Formats: sequence, structure tokens, C-alpha cells
Amino acid sequence: MPITFSAIPACAETQPFAQCHGVDLSQDLSPHDIETIRDGLLKHGVLVFRDQGAMTPRDEVAFNQAFGWHDPKGAHLFGFGAPTTEHRVSGGAQLPEWPEVSVLGNVKLDDYHGIRNTQLKPVLGFTNAAWHADGLHDMFDGLPEMTTMFNPVGWQTQGGGATYFTSGVRAVERMDSDLVRELSRCSVAYARCPNDDEPDEARRVVPSASWMVEEGTRRIGFAADSDDVAAGLRDFALRLEHAYDGGRHRCIRVHPITGEASLYITPGRSVYLVDVETGAMRHDVDETIDLLARALRPSAGREIRYEHQWREGDFVAWLNTLVLHSASDASEIDGPRLMHRVRLSTPKTRWVDGRYLSL
Ligand SMILES: [Fe+2]
Repeated sequence: MPITFSAIPACAETQPFAQCHGVDLSQDLSPHDIETIRDGLLKHGVLVFRDQGAMTPRDEVAFNQAFGWHDPKGAHLFGFGAPTTEHRVSGGAQLPEWPEVSVLGNVKLDDYHGIRNTQLKPVLGFTNAAWHADGLHDMFDGLPEMTTMFNPVGWQTQGGGATYFTSGVRAVERMDSDLVRELSRCSVAYARCPNDDEPDEARRVVPSASWMVEEGTRRIGFAADSDDVAAGLRDFALRLEHAYDGGRHRCIRVHPITGEASLYITPGRSVYLVDVETGAMRHDVDETIDLLARALRPSAGREIRYEHQWREGDFVAWLNTLVLHSASDASEIDGPRLMHRVRLSTPKTRWVDGRYLSL
């Protein structure tokens, strides 16, 4: 049976995303299959594969490595607590045998692919994190091109727990031309721990916890607590130096294969917009928040975005360079939830003198 693609009915008018038919991802893929799926990913940005319950962790990793986008040395994993990275996020766990595969959800796992006595806790949601491309805010070396998620058999999400998607390419098309022109001159700068140098421990900001409004596009401070709306940037004076060790990347990125310009931002963590050539500040914190919200808001609403409601056996792959996504709020999850996620890093690059250089 040939591999085919069809528009996702729920968002056919607003998004290029597609459902992919005619492939069993638990079987070895032929070079022709891989080429077809690769073209589909580049064209549609998000591919939904239904009824893939036979997939194993090995199959998930094989899919992520099939397109040649990952670091071929394989030494640079990208995931929760990956052994070769410093990027550890609470609430998730990794399969001991397949550390590329993170497990996310709200259940207690015991003897699940070798994971024992581990309580999963959902940590990200629409209100405290919202729209992003994976890795942008916390990892500026080897950003993952693709992310995959999988809802294994026996772990059907009963309600809530949707993943939201919006096309970064369509977002650029919806933006005013003056805004496109300005953001094309900007790189986004992130601060890892913006007030770490403040003496008062009470002022510490947790950069992962923001409070997002306007459909997840406008940040209100960095919260010291994800439930504390009042704690925020007003607690201290943010300076450009606080962003020196954070990630940076172009605000609007032209994809090297498709040639499409795509909005490539994580508004919940961004602190400054800097000149793409010189690194000099072009917009302060307030202007940055405002401009990024203006850029994304027309593409973020319920009537525009795609809300993927997970079914048992769903496998979804998306390109972070063409698509922005968000978890829905964890409070909306009804019943037990367990998901697998894989995101492999690309070959390392480093920000030097206003540019990314490949290492
Ligand atoms: Fe994500």
C-alpha cells in the first residue's frame, strides 16, 4: 500500500498539517518510504500516524534517526536527564535501555521498560509555558529538528492532555509586513537564570515558570512559582548581561531545505531581541514581549491552531523549525496519562559574534 497524506479535517483551512496513511512504523522502512515521509514532514510540518500501537522504543528511535537530521555521532542526546547533557527537567524519566526516549505523564511507573518506582508529574502547560519550539530556550547547541510523541497501547488519555500546534510558516504569512521586516533583523535572546546573581534567595526566578496570557503568546514575568502570577521580572532589573549565557537564534528562520521563512520563537522565555548581526539590543524586555505576542497572536487562537487529542497508538512527528507547539494545561488531564517523546539533537552549533557557527 503506498504512503499517502491527507489534510487533518479539524484544521484543514488554517494549517498545512497532515495525517499519514499506509505505513506501519513498527516495520523497517524502505529508503523510498523514508524519502516519502521526509518530503511529507517538510511539506506539512506535522504528521499524524494513527494505529501505530505495535511500535517499540527501538522503532521510535529508528524513526528519529531515519532522516539524517540528528547528530550522527550519537553522543549528544536531547531529552530529560539525558546522560550526556546537563539539561534535566523534573517530572519525566527515560527508558534505561533507550535513553533517547523520555516518558511523560502523571502515572507511577514500576517495571515499565526497566523504569522502577518513578512517579511522573506533568510540568509544562499552556499557562506556564505555552508556545515554543523544543530546545530553543535552554539549549543552543544542536537544537532538535524533529520531535516525536507516541501514546502507547494501554495508556489512552481519557480527556485533556491535548498538544497544540501552529505553523510557523503560516504565522509569518499572517504577520504585518513591517513586523516581518523588523523581526527578520532580530535574534531572540534567552536568560537561563536571570537573577541568579541577586543576593536575596527570595528573588530567584525560575525561568521555566512563566505566566502566559492572550492564547499563550504574552508573558507576564518570570514566576518564582508557576502558581504565583505576582512574582516576576519586576522583582529585579534585568540586564542584557543576564542573557549572555542563554540561547540565541534568529526570530524568523529560513529553512535550508524548503526555503520557507518560519516564526521560530519561545515567547515564555525570551528576554531580549538583539541585532542578528551585531548582538546589540534592539528591543528591551517589554518591547520584546509585545513584539513576540503581536507576531504569534494571529496564529495562536483556538480557531486557528490544531489541537491534537491523543488516541491510543497515535504517533506524531513534527519539525521544530517549521512548527510551534504547546502542551495544554496539566489540570485538564482526566485520568492516567503516559506518553513517549524523542527529540535528538542536530550537530552542534555555537553562537559566536552574532551568528551560529557549526562546530
Ligand atoms: Fe515541547
